[in-house]
Amino acid sequence: MINPIFLTKEEIDRLIKNPLNEEEILICRKNHLLTNAREHIIVGSTEPGSIYFKTHDGREILDCTSQAWVYNLGHNNPDISYALSIQSQEVTHSWSYFLSPIRIRLFNRLAEILPGKLKGGKISVNNSGGSWALECAMRLTMVNNKRGDQFIVFRRGYHGSNLTMMGATQRLPMRFSGYGREHWVRTLFPYCYRCPWHYKGGFSGVRDKSCNLECLELVREKIEIFPTGTPIGCIIEPMQGPGGQIPAPVEFLTGLKEICENNKILLIYDEAQTGFGRTGKMFATEWYNSNYNLDVSPDIMTLTKAAAAGVPIGITVATPKLRQLTEFEEHSTFSSPPLAMAACLINIEILLKNKIPENADKQGKKITSFIKDLSEEITEIGDVRGPGLFIGVEFVKDPETREPFNELLEKLVHIGWKNGIFFGEQMQIMSTAGYFIQNTLKIKPPLIINDNETDKICELFETSLKEAINSLK
Ligand SMILES: Cc1ncc(COP(=O)(O)O)c(C=O)c1O
Repeated sequence: MINPIFLTKEEIDRLIKNPLNEEEILICRKNHLLTNAREHIIVGSTEPGSIYFKTHDGREILDCTSQAWVYNLGHNNPDISYALSIQSQEVTHSWSYFLSPIRIRLFNRLAEILPGKLKGGKISVNNSGGSWALECAMRLTMVNNKRGDQFIVFRRGYHGSNLTMMGATQRLPMRFSGYGREHWVRTLFPYCYRCPWHYKGGFSGVRDKSCNLECLELVREKIEIFPTGTPIGCIIEPMQGPGGQIPAPVEFLTGLKEICENNKILLIYDEAQTGFGRTGKMFATEWYNSNYNLDVSPDIMTLTKAAAAGVPIGITVATPKLRQLTEFEEHSTFSSPPLAMAACLINIEILLKNKIPENADKQGKKITSFIKDLSEEITEIGDVRGPGLFIGVEFVKDPETREPFNELLEKLVHIGWKNGIFFGEQMQIMSTAGYFIQNTLKIKPPLIINDNETDKICELFETSLKEAINSLK
């Protein structure tokens, strides 16, 4: 029982829970610095842990985005709410150099479940998310590898939007996306459906049978001809999320790992979108390790998004052999956030105890095979990619030319909302010819969906897609 001392419970409730009035909304729209405040207002979940959310205008929407791929346990999961309430009565903040019970328990648990050579590894957390976690990974690389300060990154990659990570991210339509460009060497991601070497048989992230991994050769060449010496680190999403839900073929990752080892380059996996069960395993790294019995684990991995089931957190983990960072090398006021750490610890427990990654695998397979069957009839479905509930559906105008069908994606998302389902979109990619490509739909609901909810997603996908196609005729 919590008893406030400065305000009454009624006063607090009024400020937080009372329904909005139209005047407040109008004032806030004027106060908003960012232009991205959409017309719709989300007011909460339909019930704790639901995959549906409620809007201010009284609608209930099935969420296939998990709100930026964060709510893996559904909106406002009650176990997480309970854990936050308990932790908030213990410690909500301390100097980042103090250990605390929650930090000790989380770090010990995480170290146990990390994949491959990260197991037992070194951990750092922050309260601001993936960009900071990656910056930490870069600092760690720089202190362990004193040769320079350049990193390899990949086309269509997304690694955040602070000024450091923006340069690592695929060029975005904005003024400062080239900031710090001298630190990056960009090469091609193995995007098998659109292979620049014209292998046509690459579907669902599996390469064409006759492919010779030319893209891997390109990485080697880039390293050799790089003018200022060998880069010190290589940052990659093993399965690209924002760039279009593109899993790298396993042979690319094993080859990349070997190239990095031979050139003393530290390999960094950005598992912002793949971590914590989405692929059907706790981490994409583990998915590759167990599906192919090959160890693709990197030297460093970064995590965020679903890590704390809706509470902001970023995590950097490193193989135990790396030297630690000092307080001067990695520090921020809130870099030991107890609420986020409590949520993360309980999230891990829930995912493992209830076999939720296994559910993601099962429901994901149902959705992808439903859409693959549908593609026999609807030729605008060019490629369907998983694994698990990390689903991408790429739309094309013609299955032969594979010309991106941006308009169909836009229409489908719009019609989906009207029909009560919220789908995600890949980020915009600027093509070499100067126009935008944005033709992959993301279906990434909370991992706790049941059979009926999965059927509902399939049904709404089909009807909304057919409606979208007809509206474009
Ligand atoms: C793959 C990937 N990496 C990094 C980030 C950056 O995370 P944050 O927005 O928390 O800084 C994101 C965020 O969308 C992401 O999807």
